[in-house]
Amino acid sequence: MRIFVAPDRATAAQRTADIVEGFVNSAASTALGIATGKTMEEPLAEIARRCRRGTLSLAHAEVYLLDEYVGLELDDPCSFANTVDRLLVQTTDLPPGAVHGPNPHNPDLYAECADYERHVRAACIGLQLLGIGTNGHIAFNEPGSSFASSTRVVQLNEQTRRDNARAFPDGTRPPAAAITQGIGTILMATELLLVACGQPKARSIARALEGPVTRSLPASALQLHPNVTVVLDPPAAALLTDASSQRCRTP
Ligand code: F6R
Repeated sequence: MRIFVAPDRATAAQRTADIVEGFVNSAASTALGIATGKTMEEPLAEIARRCRRGTLSLAHAEVYLLDEYVGLELDDPCSFANTVDRLLVQTTDLPPGAVHGPNPHNPDLYAECADYERHVRAACIGLQLLGIGTNGHIAFNEPGSSFASSTRVVQLNEQTRRDNARAFPDGTRPPAAAITQGIGTILMATELLLVACGQPKARSIARALEGPVTRSLPASALQLHPNVTVVLDPPAAALLTDASSQRCRTP
């Protein structure tokens, strides 16, 4: 596991974009897994800037969403599909048809999950971007999720709904349910890139990277993957021991 502690959030976003750029330019795979959420906004904005400058192109990429709320209207700006449309499709040369995600409006959600799982497996994700919840979730795999889990409908826990409420208009709350890739699905990607910024993530980052591998901290499953990069800002890295946080400080 490579842990990069950037001097600040903006540098963490640049470092994340560097890794995505390296992946896209390597042409080893075109399948890029994307997380949404506040943490990803700066890295995705940086990717969009590079596309506008012409130093990066997503024209041949295929983007796969990690998760999606169940219960939002199709045109709800808070859905992850609409977020990725706004942050990547409208701002880069990523073709609209190249964004793949589970359809939460399918009346048969069980079939939808099985279908999306097949789709993701067939794509063989080359680089998977991940955020982390304050409770240690990855995608929407809440504490207690099996490390062998696949795409399924999950109930979001109260902590996650409280945290994510900041992305919703005042007075509204995130839905109680979502479709998420499983931890088993995520671990199949060739490379994982976990990004975390801000003091609220410090505890889950320290437990995920240095604590025991346990279902009660879903992100600790990353310790089982052979190719993981973690990009942090100093507040998110604050509770790591010196040994691991200084292992790979960015220049
Ligand atoms: C969303 C996702 C989630 C977020 C996590 C962190 O697609 O996969 O696991 O990455 O909840 O969200 P932020 O960045 O909003 O703190």
